[in-house]
Amino acid sequence: MSPSSLRTYFLVALALAPILTLLRRRTRRSFKLPRKNERILIVGASSGIGRTLAHQYAELGVKGVCVVGRRAENIADVVTECNSRKGPNTEIIGITGDFAEAADMVKIRTQLESLWGGIDTMIVAAGVSALLPLMEVAGAQPGNVGTDGIQHVVDVAALATRGNYVGPLVTAVTFIPLLQTSSPHPSILLVNSLAAVIPAPTRTIYASTKAASLLLYQALAIEHPVIAFTHVLPSTVEGDFRASAVDGGKAREADPNKTGLKRGAVARRCISAIERGEKNVFMPWTMGPGHLLYWIWPAFVEWRASAKYKFTPPR
Ligand SMILES: NC(=O)c1ccc[n+]([C@@H]2O[C@H](COP(=O)([O-])OP(=O)(O)OC[C@H]3O[C@@H](n4cnc5c(N)ncnc54)[C@H](OP(=O)(O)O)[C@@H]3O)[C@@H](O)[C@H]2O)c1
Repeated sequence: MSPSSLRTYFLVALALAPILTLLRRRTRRSFKLPRKNERILIVGASSGIGRTLAHQYAELGVKGVCVVGRRAENIADVVTECNSRKGPNTEIIGITGDFAEAADMVKIRTQLESLWGGIDTMIVAAGVSALLPLMEVAGAQPGNVGTDGIQHVVDVAALATRGNYVGPLVTAVTFIPLLQTSSPHPSILLVNSLAAVIPAPTRTIYASTKAASLLLYQALAIEHPVIAFTHVLPSTVEGDFRASAVDGGKAREADPNKTGLKRGAVARRCISAIERGEKNVFMPWTMGPGHLLYWIWPAFVEWRASAKYKFTPPR
């Protein structure tokens, strides 16, 4: 393909982006639940985007916000923070639990059924990072990788799969029946990642496990058309997400706290996407055409991704 036809493809994709955004919106759901009646469950709210979403929903005066995470101390702090922001009609509940554990999610569902009679909106913000090139996870030497190294890759992949795929899976199976039977306008929002649709070096395990849950929820949206599904795909966001990478890796890119998206902006965009019934949201929006560009001109996107993650392939 000549450079001029590539340029034409790119310009056409850019021009089509706003139209595609409109088409991606879910027009069928014209009525949204009044905020004062909305009962919201946020899984993965002990820090980061989920915690900020809890603050914002508390300020909006919804009926209830339930925050979930494994760290009990953090969950107690989030409840205190939300209580200091909320109005008189909002109830804040904090429950500790692991979203990949069926018993934990059923315990939360039972509590919400008895306290609120159900939920209207479920947000799955929980996830784990993995930051090393695959062969570094395996400790591979030039021309050789041993059994122990391969097994270590399998173990790391199992942790990432648990945090990025099994958790969203267990949460969906547990709460979809409750959402369908207890809400007149049920919604599910998955905080996923741009890495799930645009490949990047050092993100092989992270991106592939995020892609698995993205496809899971996109397919569930077809199986459950009464539920409005929204999938938010942010690029790098400020915060400590990389600090607990399941492969022990360190971030190579520019400091997310200086260059990343702001948590407040991501949370606001999540709320507006739910309220407008949008299906897939890229953050920033220019990454939508960027995603298309990968299929038209993969070499360009691969070069940009290598530069962002300061990655040079081993010889
Ligand atoms: N930060 C970024 O640059 C970025 C970019 C794109 C997408 N994302 C996605 O955004 C989401 C939120 O990330 P963040 O930046 O807010 O990171 P974060 O501050 O590390 O938050 C992750 C949340 O997930 C929870 N979590 C992890 N494993 C869990 C488990 N097994 N059970 C229950 N909760 C669990 C954590 O709580 P506990 O540890 O208390 O359980 C925490 O509340 C993730 O899904 C991530 O993939 C992040």
